[in-house]
Amino acid sequence: MIELVAAAMPHAEVMAGMHAVCFAEPWSPRSMAEVLLMPGSQGLIAVDGASLRPSLAPPGPAGLVMWRCLGDEAEILTIAVLPPWRRQGVGALLLTAALRDAAARGAATMFLEVAADNDPAQALYRRHGFEPLGRRKGYYHGIDALTMRLPLEKPKSTPGAAEDPGPVE
Ligand SMILES: CC(C)(COP(=O)(O)OP(=O)(O)OC[C@H]1O[C@@H](n2cnc3c(N)ncnc32)[C@H](O)[C@@H]1OP(=O)(O)O)[C@@H](O)C(=O)NCCC(=O)NCCS
Repeated sequence: MIELVAAAMPHAEVMAGMHAVCFAEPWSPRSMAEVLLMPGSQGLIAVDGASLRPSLAPPGPAGLVMWRCLGDEAEILTIAVLPPWRRQGVGALLLTAALRDAAARGAATMFLEVAADNDPAQALYRRHGFEPLGRRKGYYHGIDALTMRLPLEKPKSTPGAAEDPGPVE
């Protein structure tokens, strides 16, 4: 079973390890810690089987998402799912949680950048309603970056409805 755990400084190393598996340009544990410490920075780790011990098969940490909220704007900083867990809804779970949290913190729009040749990530983002906003030529070592945007829905507070979980602690 996958549960989402709020990312904190002690997780920097395991998060950097996951990032290194998923990206050609990995963030070091130190960079990961610096991102966690940035104002407005939030993170979640998808943990499968209640274990944070690095693993390429369950149980273990399956993926992560980091985002940043500044005023009424938010940005996905990174999102990644380890290969054995892909196409099982983990990326969607992480992205949805980040969108919900950013909206709960008062963000009206979520932005992100994605490599123009990253079809899986673009498919994930489009499926969640992100639309292309612009293009940065050669942003990723010669590969263009697409900037995408999603207007966020204000959290609903319906009397009698289940309580909104609110922002990630
Ligand atoms: C992008 C990424 C996070 C998706 O994670 P995931 O857990 O596999 O995604 P999900 O299973 O939640 O997929 C949700 C939807 O996204 C789309 N999608 C995800 N991967 C896809 C793929 N390889 N091809 C086509 N569509 C894909 C589909 O619409 C999918 O829904 P479906 O499975 O019902 O068709 C993962 O592929 C990854 O970590 N990639 C490497 C790191 C990366 O590129 N991060 C994004 C940087 S901008």
